[in-house]
Amino acid sequence: MTTALTETPLFSEIDRERLPHHIAIIMDGNGRWARKRRLPRIAGHRAGIRAVRNAVEACARLGVPYLTLYAFSIENWKRPHSEVKLLMQLLRQYLKKEIGELNQQNIRLGVIGRVRELEPPVQRDLARAIEKTRRNTGLRLTLALNYGSRAELVDAVRALARHLKQDGRVSVDEAAISRHLYTRDLPDPDLLIRTSGEMRLSNFLLWQAAYAELWVTQTLWPDFTQNDLLQAIIDYQKRERRYGGLGLR
Ligand code: IPE
Ligand code: IPE
Ligand code: MG
Repeated sequence: MTTALTETPLFSEIDRERLPHHIAIIMDGNGRWARKRRLPRIAGHRAGIRAVRNAVEACARLGVPYLTLYAFSIENWKRPHSEVKLLMQLLRQYLKKEIGELNQQNIRLGVIGRVRELEPPVQRDLARAIEKTRRNTGLRLTLALNYGSRAELVDAVRALARHLKQDGRVSVDEAAISRHLYTRDLPDPDLLIRTSGEMRLSNFLLWQAAYAELWVTQTLWPDFTQNDLLQAIIDYQKRERRYGGLGLR
């Protein structure tokens, strides 16, 4: 797999000097992938793990500094209990199986979301994986778990209000809000990818993605390959980011 990335023709089209600093992915379409094959939805989630592995490895190899994956939203609790339970099991399996590989690739794991509302065993496994990869200096891989952007903003405003109460001189500005988000240690995403064709953000990084370049593919998440990721980066590198100004023209 690792040699495949550098050997692919798309690889040579990438300008390594202008990589997106932070890629965020809404990994969608596992259920549809399973339905197409008349399999239970969980089979799609299981197949999605392979795509996670590929995307993580490709980012680490390319030298992308930050990758954030939307793995479970606050709204996903609305799904049947059995699906949620299996998703959590899959997450725990991933964490246990992948730690060695993450360490080998010098990847540091992190998490954003209301982690304390996850089941204690899930929290324990997460804490262990984060601790075991803490000293790694390569790709910073962040899993968004029990994450919702509006809940994050509510938590940030609450924390900021507490801060203000302690010290009335604290100013309320964009930087202060950013500092109170779960993403305080991460730069804003440059490239936001969504699989399976849906043209919405589904409550993901609403504040942080203000100027992210969006890239949507019809490909269902379990079918997402390293080539798809390379294509997204190539397209990103052709975009002109203007941030409200006049750009280069
Ligand atoms: C994304 O796939 C994975 C999670 C939300 C956990 P879905 O399960 O949303 O798949 P579709 O959208 O039903 O195809
Ligand atoms: C977004 O996908 C959440 C994750 C990928 C974890 P959903 O499948 O939950 O989003 P909607 O319901 O189609 O908006
Ligand atoms: Mg979905």
